[in-house]
Amino acid sequence: LAKIEVKLNDIPEGKNVTFKWRGKPLFIRHRTAAEIDAESNVDLSSLRDPQLDSDRAQRPEWLVLLGVCTHLGCVPIANSGDFGGYYCPCHGSHYDASGRIRKGPAPLNLEIPIHTFVDENTLVVG
Ligand code: FES
Repeated sequence: LAKIEVKLNDIPEGKNVTFKWRGKPLFIRHRTAAEIDAESNVDLSSLRDPQLDSDRAQRPEWLVLLGVCTHLGCVPIANSGDFGGYYCPCHGSHYDASGRIRKGPAPLNLEIPIHTFVDENTLVVG
């Protein structure tokens, strides 16, 4: 399927849900206020692949990511690792709650697929 529609009401705050989209894992994370606050205050000069959190999340409460490690393509584990986001167990890459690479061998942030918020409760990816 080229596009996937996700009902956001089904994803509780603090939770990351994995969907399958175009043969890849798709992560949708309902971020907490504390996560949003922490990620929006990260010093860009400390980042390997510098991107503002506000450029990654159209709506701060929702983070939409491909669940594919940018090192060699393993699936990272949500709510794990040293930076409160994702941890890739294959070779130890740590991503933050914006999906940005913070430690380990991965060169780039987790990719954000094209997505649109159709209404308050509906997200379309693709
Ligand atoms: Fe994720 Fe190597 S594939 S750290």
